[in-house]
Amino acid sequence: MPRLAVNVDHVATLRQARGGCEPDPVAAAHMCELAGARAIIVHLREDRRHIQDRDLALLRATVKTRLHLEMAATPEMGRIALETRPEMVCLVPEKRQELTTEGGLAVYAREDELSRFLAPLHKAGVKASLFIDPDPRQIAAAGRVGAEYIEIHTGAYADAKTPEDKAHEFEKVRGAVALGREHGLSVNVGHGLNYDNIFAFAKIGGIDEYSIGHAIVCRAVFTGLTEAVGAMARIVAGFPD
Ligand code: PXP
Repeated sequence: MPRLAVNVDHVATLRQARGGCEPDPVAAAHMCELAGARAIIVHLREDRRHIQDRDLALLRATVKTRLHLEMAATPEMGRIALETRPEMVCLVPEKRQELTTEGGLAVYAREDELSRFLAPLHKAGVKASLFIDPDPRQIAAAGRVGAEYIEIHTGAYADAKTPEDKAHEFEKVRGAVALGREHGLSVNVGHGLNYDNIFAFAKIGGIDEYSIGHAIVCRAVFTGLTEAVGAMARIVAGFPD
């Protein structure tokens, strides 16, 4: 059964808006797990704009499902990941000016560097995922780098304005999922997925994990996290393996 992994960054965004301690993403993660999340995701950004080091440490001590850490491939983040030992790291490109992660990681151009970066993490038993565009060249490179997982960037599909563009972008994601599996990789998807556009995936097998944050936190403002996570967990649980 595919897993729902909930990204709680935006709970921390709300907290940081006032610089206090509420709402706490650690408490939110606990509620997400009770409501059906099978993993908790946080992105520790270089500028610490939402998730803080304190959050990561507390999440490591309290998350009972799996803790997935999104991060840039920098020496600082490598050290933090080794100290924290999440179940998985997901390497993403990071730009200071962006509102959210904008594009996939350029794996093709950085294979040696990324292999070297991942080696100590693998030695410590931390699995690795690479967040990439649905691009065959990047998928093949991800296989060579030694990552166990890829996460296919669904942002272009989510942002497509016309039905034709949406169908075109979706086909790219579908092809990328199949190609990732052919390369022996486990495949996750994420970015911009919501309670509407997720249904296109009801026809696709081969996806391990749906990584969703913004849409769930937005819905939770009106319905509460338990309902918001539970509704998405039930949708994803109905999709094929
Ligand atoms: N996957 C990755 C790699 C991301 O950077 C993000 C956004 O933090 C997500 C998934 C979740 O995207 P969204 O918040 O749009 O659901």
